[in-house]
Amino acid sequence: MKEEKLRELLSSLTVTEKIGQLIQVPGNMLNAEGQELGVRDELGIGEELLRNVGSTLNVVGAGQVRRVQEEYLKRSSAKIPLMFMADIIYGFRTVYPIPLALGCSFEPELLRRLCEATARESTAAGAQVTFSPMGDLVRDARWGRCLESTGEDPHMNAAYVRAMVEGFQEGLSEEGAARGLASCVKHFAAYGAPEGGRDYNTVDMSERRLRQDYLPSYRAGVEAGCEMIMTSFNTVDGIPSTGNRWLMKDVLRKEWGFEGVVITDYAAIAELITHGVAADQKEASQLAMEADVDIDMCTGCYGGSLEELIREGRLTMEQLDAAVWRVLRLKNKLGLFEDPFRGADAAEEERLSLCADFRALSREAAVKCSVLLENKDGLLPLSLDAEKRKAGEPEAPAAEDAKAAGRVALIGPFVDRKDALGMWAIHGDKNAVVTIREAFAEMPGLSFDWTEGCEALLPEDYTDLTALSQSGERELWSEERREKEWSRALVLAGEADTVILALGEDPVQGGEGGSRTRLTLPGDQMKLLYEVKKRAARVIVVLFAGRPLVLNEVKELADALLLVWYPGTEGGAAIRDMLFGVSEPQGRLSMSLPRSEGQLPLYYNHFSTGRPYDGKTVNRFFSRYTDCPNTPLYPYGYGLSYHSAAYGPVRLSASVLGPGESITAAVDVTNTGSRDGVETVQLYVRDVTGSVVRPVKELKDVQKLFLKAGETKQAAFVITEEMLRFYGRDLRYRSEPGRFLLGIGPDSSVRLDAEFTLTEK
Ligand code: NOJ
Repeated sequence: MKEEKLRELLSSLTVTEKIGQLIQVPGNMLNAEGQELGVRDELGIGEELLRNVGSTLNVVGAGQVRRVQEEYLKRSSAKIPLMFMADIIYGFRTVYPIPLALGCSFEPELLRRLCEATARESTAAGAQVTFSPMGDLVRDARWGRCLESTGEDPHMNAAYVRAMVEGFQEGLSEEGAARGLASCVKHFAAYGAPEGGRDYNTVDMSERRLRQDYLPSYRAGVEAGCEMIMTSFNTVDGIPSTGNRWLMKDVLRKEWGFEGVVITDYAAIAELITHGVAADQKEASQLAMEADVDIDMCTGCYGGSLEELIREGRLTMEQLDAAVWRVLRLKNKLGLFEDPFRGADAAEEERLSLCADFRALSREAAVKCSVLLENKDGLLPLSLDAEKRKAGEPEAPAAEDAKAAGRVALIGPFVDRKDALGMWAIHGDKNAVVTIREAFAEMPGLSFDWTEGCEALLPEDYTDLTALSQSGERELWSEERREKEWSRALVLAGEADTVILALGEDPVQGGEGGSRTRLTLPGDQMKLLYEVKKRAARVIVVLFAGRPLVLNEVKELADALLLVWYPGTEGGAAIRDMLFGVSEPQGRLSMSLPRSEGQLPLYYNHFSTGRPYDGKTVNRFFSRYTDCPNTPLYPYGYGLSYHSAAYGPVRLSASVLGPGESITAAVDVTNTGSRDGVETVQLYVRDVTGSVVRPVKELKDVQKLFLKAGETKQAAFVITEEMLRFYGRDLRYRSEPGRFLLGIGPDSSVRLDAEFTLTEK
């Protein structure tokens, strides 16, 4: 529809019809089946308004979407198509690894590709807008939603958010687009920094830190053209985001020029009352409207108050029109006025759902995101020698690989779990998930035994069962089953040449509302590891998790340790391929893994403090713990490979960098192993002295190099003045002249032993 026509449409609407556009209701209010995740009161929306609401959430499936739209358009007086939004977070029916795992790929292009695939799969099922990506930076593993973040680094997070927005919105043209999902970047802002790691808790930080570390990812989403922004539940400087004018108007709209739609998070306008900044729904609605918040997700606030607020002159018709205009413009961009069903096509949905290409992408992603934490005596891969592998390049493990593994036992609560996908794979098809057991069963020449051994979780791991699973239902094993599985596990461990022990955090323990204070393996899993280790020749631990766990004992006991996070639909197949060396795990940690929960928040790009501890000096008057090192168990950027690599010294093309100039930092990287592999080469920089304290290290760039066995390649990084900018004493974003240290290596523990100077002229 032409803009002129759209303007005419807006001015033809009644006030009720206009307000309707700003209201999002759950599917059941529209006679649809949708998933609802959250707490809400009855909306109390009257009939006329309900007939004209603007959007709904998590109603998917081509047939259902068409039916709901058809019925809606019959009832609605304004005849403006309903907009269908959904939490399509890391895949749709085909599920990819969780975002925290995707962050370990150090390959934004991979995320772009899988978001594009996700958009194709879900638009055929009628989805139009996705509440993804989540740009929240995370530093505290207690927070369950770490699983939805790409990690602790502002530079990488921004690159990932940009790539995800581009991927989702591929094909979403200026007008009438039938391809692509409109992307909603969330949760604006700083939702990832709740005090104590407890979900929905207070966030309070300096504006400097907010701008320096937390805002860049959302901004990258805006610059990539995201159509929507979601407010966060938390406070920012004492004011909840949903009513925070400074954040929403001054920063988002004015500074960044965002013209798209702002939607609240679930019931967040009503929560302005419980936060204590509004006395009632009316005040809450006024605060949100004054902050330019357009859509009210699932409360009765806008529906019950806007008309009165306008009548009383507390809000203007122009304010209402501006918000409605933004919503209509998005509907127009999606092409809904031309085709209200936009791409919802049952045959296409069926054809694309879990199709071979998407499954292959899911497997590729799982390999690129899995992090090999330990590999004692080069135990992995359990395979043929490298020469044979190179010559034949088989795509799946062969019978000879099976021989290399000897007698295999698969043990642990995750060997055959179809639901190890992480909380936000809400539209994922669990039945399509390939488990480790299923993948092993397909391997020629391999006979193996398996048992779960124990449950992932026991009642002592939670204080409130209903807080874990929405329904509160959780089937516990009988005493008899417990004993049977346990003793079978110990027998199998004793008989096997190789034990693959699949352990982890139960998926219900993470995600929204999934905060934890103890981050060790739940249930009897540690006990199982100890018992298996006593009996088995070699134990390979495959670890499932949605956040960094405390792994000190696992590290000691496991002969090899492969962190697969929640790896997605093809997880089992990818794990089998990695264990047998058909593919090499490529992931590098997107979050530091702590030694203890007491270290949290923990992140590599911290300040030095006035009394930095060197880890050696015997003296208490340093910034240190008396019972634990300051360092993580595994640092950010860390991960082993099946090849080994040596890094030469850094060569700088110049030692002085002037404005408008660039210098190159290069290093020779040699594959010193006998297998080909991919090396993730990381560039870290430190600004030694600034007008404000600068972090001890900041990741500035990454290159993934494919190296044949024995091959040497150069990784070269261009450094410009722009890369060295930060928010100085006056909060202006610029660089400051002076000394910079630099290092290039395989993870964030690299020494910064090269140096250059930035000059003003
Ligand atoms: C609440 C979550 O915080 C948000 O991420 C999600 O998109 C909405 N619910 C909608 O389900």
